[in-house]
Amino acid sequence: MNKQSQPIGVFDSGIGGLSVVKSLIEQLPNENIIYFGDIARIPYGTKSIATIQKFTEQTVKFLLKQNVKAIIIACNTISAVAKDTVIQLAGDIPVIDVISAGAKAATNISKQIGIIATPATINSNAYPTVIKNISPEAKTYSQACALFVPMVEEGFIQHPALELVAAEYLENLMAHDIDSLVLGCTHYPLIKQTIAKILGVNVQIIDPAITACEQLKHALSQDNNLNVSDKQGVYKYFVTDVAVKFQQIGEMFLNRPMTHIEIVNVE
Ligand code: DGL
Repeated sequence: MNKQSQPIGVFDSGIGGLSVVKSLIEQLPNENIIYFGDIARIPYGTKSIATIQKFTEQTVKFLLKQNVKAIIIACNTISAVAKDTVIQLAGDIPVIDVISAGAKAATNISKQIGIIATPATINSNAYPTVIKNISPEAKTYSQACALFVPMVEEGFIQHPALELVAAEYLENLMAHDIDSLVLGCTHYPLIKQTIAKILGVNVQIIDPAITACEQLKHALSQDNNLNVSDKQGVYKYFVTDVAVKFQQIGEMFLNRPMTHIEIVNVE
């Protein structure tokens, strides 16, 4: 059956997955998108694997009810510890995850790779494992940045407090002479400018969202499921709690109005 006009499902624990939506809109402007952000239960990055898997299962069931034709796990934490949960529930629709995408992008350009992410993603060792599988000679250096997610959700996008925190986190990695840095949490592209300012021009910043969208485009085109409409896609955002900050920060980041935002309960 032709699925071309069905939406793409994108999900994250909160606002961070909008960095994937931004890339999707740039790369596939005619696709319809259903976004889900679990604002009521964020952060995931400091929670147990069992809890993250339970939340993921509830979210994927919600997305499947919206009749999505593909799913992007727009959260590194979920990609690290609950990717199999998504694949099992999704059946035969494509599932793209940001960790495989980020690892691919990093190994394409670098052998001295820094990774910043939530504590759950760093503790899972998912990035170094996938990177070494692709490029055994690559060296990886990881740093958990627990304070970045609450700061982004709070709107501290360009703020002196963020600069201080970022400098502290990045100091160790820079001591290892990294030449690339993977933004291993989808919240981090929102604070990319601050991170870039501290790193300087010699470290290339990798946003896995860009490669994830390229991989999705490839998967949809292979199945002949790309949307052939010439109209701009329809974007619907679902969140699990009050959406005021989500809308404010989201509209600034996406540079467009978010007209359809709905609060849902997936428990
Ligand atoms: N955006 C999520 C990620 O990519 C993390 C946010 C959270 O801790 O819930 O890992």
